[in-house]
Amino acid sequence: MDQPENLPQVPESEAKRSQNANKKARLSPMMIRLRATMAAAKYHGVDLDLRDFATEPGEKSPSPATLARWLNSQGLVAKGMRLKWRYLIRMFNSPPVVLMFKDGSAGLMVGVNPKKGVVFLRDPLGKETDAPVAVDELRLRQAWTGDVLLVKRNRNLSEAEAPINFLWLAKMVLRERVSLRDIAIASMVISILQIFPAFIVMQVINKVVNFHSMATLVSISGLVLILSFYEVLLSYARRELTNVMATRLDARISIHTYNRLLALPLEFFERQQAGRIVGKVSQIYGVRDFLTGRLMATFLDLFTLIVILPFLFYISAPLAWMVVAGAGAIGLIVVLFMPPMMRLYMQRIEEEMERASRMYETVAGIRTVKTLALEPARRQEWDEIIAVVSKWRLATGRMSNWPETLVMPLEFFINRGVILIGAYICLTSPTAGVDAGAIVAFMMLGNRVASPLVNIAKLMSTIMEVRTALGQAGEILNNPTETKELTTGLRPRIIGALSFEDVNFTYPGGSGRALKNLTFSIPAGTMLGLVGRSGSGKSTITRLLQGVSRNYTGFLRLDGVDLREINLTHLRRSFGVVLQDNFLFRGTIRDNITAGRPGLTMDDVIRAARLAGAEEFIERMPAGYDTEIEEGSTNISGGQRQRLAIARAVIMDPKFMILDEATSALDPESEALVNANLERIAKGRTMVIVSHRLSSLVNCDKILVLDQGIMQAIGTHDELLETCEIYRTLWLQQNRHLDPNKKESNQSNGHGNSTMLPKEA
Ligand SMILES: Nc1ncnc2c1ncn2[C@@H]1O[C@H](COP(=O)(O)OP(=O)(O)O)[C@@H](O)[C@H]1O
Ligand SMILES: [Mg+2]
Repeated sequence: MDQPENLPQVPESEAKRSQNANKKARLSPMMIRLRATMAAAKYHGVDLDLRDFATEPGEKSPSPATLARWLNSQGLVAKGMRLKWRYLIRMFNSPPVVLMFKDGSAGLMVGVNPKKGVVFLRDPLGKETDAPVAVDELRLRQAWTGDVLLVKRNRNLSEAEAPINFLWLAKMVLRERVSLRDIAIASMVISILQIFPAFIVMQVINKVVNFHSMATLVSISGLVLILSFYEVLLSYARRELTNVMATRLDARISIHTYNRLLALPLEFFERQQAGRIVGKVSQIYGVRDFLTGRLMATFLDLFTLIVILPFLFYISAPLAWMVVAGAGAIGLIVVLFMPPMMRLYMQRIEEEMERASRMYETVAGIRTVKTLALEPARRQEWDEIIAVVSKWRLATGRMSNWPETLVMPLEFFINRGVILIGAYICLTSPTAGVDAGAIVAFMMLGNRVASPLVNIAKLMSTIMEVRTALGQAGEILNNPTETKELTTGLRPRIIGALSFEDVNFTYPGGSGRALKNLTFSIPAGTMLGLVGRSGSGKSTITRLLQGVSRNYTGFLRLDGVDLREINLTHLRRSFGVVLQDNFLFRGTIRDNITAGRPGLTMDDVIRAARLAGAEEFIERMPAGYDTEIEEGSTNISGGQRQRLAIARAVIMDPKFMILDEATSALDPESEALVNANLERIAKGRTMVIVSHRLSSLVNCDKILVLDQGIMQAIGTHDELLETCEIYRTLWLQQNRHLDPNKKESNQSNGHGNSTMLPKEA
């Protein structure tokens, strides 16, 4: 029988003990906890990768919440919670549950037997077929903190993938039902408390003033004081509850939208303007404001209505009817003006978004704007869009001014007219039950009924705004994500052999095929050069490799495994990619090399920097690896930036490197430096190097010549010079200045552009 090794109290044989001691020495409690979690996920068919796990700062061992975040990001549904033994023991037929232990490790509960009062634990480090161990309450308590992590399979990726619409919104709000209930109770009580002052004033006028009763006044005053105190307290509580709930909703919406945005495929971002994406997604904050503002207010108003309206009818039905009729008329006006308002409003949103995206474009392209002195042109464009926005803004303002003006007389009627009519009734027919007190009560409460009624009508128009906003955000966020590909699929060990079999690819919306019947293969460890004219499909090949575009036909295999079968995250992690223009994030050089990937030490950073040839210049920087990269990386040169990008790519020791025009924007000296390092980097890796400068590819094991998406030839530099017309032409074009007469001697001639200079020290 195997022991769950982190249950110290369980008696065990000597042999077992020493074996477990060994295991423990190797694995920290935190590691055991992570392994238990991975075992629980494995049960649902999800192979977790430790590299996806991000520790929370300050956590010795990951909390259930941290683990749940990890699992949720991998397409499972996980939840950390505190559980009592009596609930734990009743979890029949449950998938494995991770039990948190006090030493920071964890156990894996795979079954229960309530009759015998035991749960069954399996060693998280053992095999799935290992026999579980029965543990009773007493023994479990000594190790278990009471926290568990429940893991479920995500049915059709339900929540994370649910489209963003009203249903989604409703679910989001309903998750707060406990808070909502408390807020509702508080509102009811407040409303009741609000009735009392009116009621009391009625008494004061009818009894105290009419009968000059001092004793009644004193007791009433006391009551008023106490009630006021309670109202203050309750209002405070309600605001606090509302605030907490609004904050939670806000956080949830923000996290959800961001996750969704990150899950969208790269292809999607390429087809859209960044400014527009941000603009549309930001509309979701309008939805949040609606939820936490207008909807909440109306919800609270409803309770006021439920309490106060009957009270008003109790005091005087005719007057109450008049209030309701007035409010109804206001509501009608609001509803009538809604459709034209909406049309204008949508137009205005559209134009405002355009304005935001113009601003974004200018900021993003400010270098070009400034260097070409394009300010006047940009300003002119801006003025034009502002004129349009102003037009629509004014129009919506004008339009909304109408209903607001029209409802004013009705509001006067409710506030003042009803009182006057009440006074008239009081004077003419004293038996109608409308006395001075009732009139005052209406003065105090009439408005509290009218404004909620109007607000409910207004809510309808806001709902239309929200629908627009949701539509806008959904236009971006409801696009198909690549979550499924990122979380499922094989995770084979990548060695680096690569083959294309009759691959055809057309860009979505593209005119023709970008790749035509591409077939070739290279063994692991090859340095493959890709050459061809601009637009011949070189970058497209690298994109297919990285799974950026997946709707190609034919087969693309890595070490014989169909690329489509491979987990996308795993695939992309197996590649080190350096592009022509690499984005450096705000932060230190060290941060940029690790790029936030967990588990990397300073030694790794230095090793990567050395391999990339970046070490020498980093060490010359004022703060070394802690030098802050400035916005737009102005404090480092282009060559330095490329070397940082290479360091960032090689730090994970990828078996596969892709360099797409990585040295094309560099000066010859930097290019030579980088190229010299590449040969060292290439050891033990498959490299795909795209360059339009043939001279930097002469040392490649294989060079593939592409033209208009068709493979023209594949071979070494020398072979291609002999056999491939296109290659020879390109080569001569680039190197004619060196040796115009003797083309054959070019190869032995230092290879042209001085890009293969001897390595620097
Ligand atoms: N995102 C895209 N959408 C549509 N067509 C594209 C896209 N990217 C590239 N293309 C087209 O595909 C062809 C190959 O492009 P690419 O692989 O980038 O060429 P290269 O890297 O060799 O210069 C070109 O005709 C180009 O216009
Ligand atoms: Mg390209």
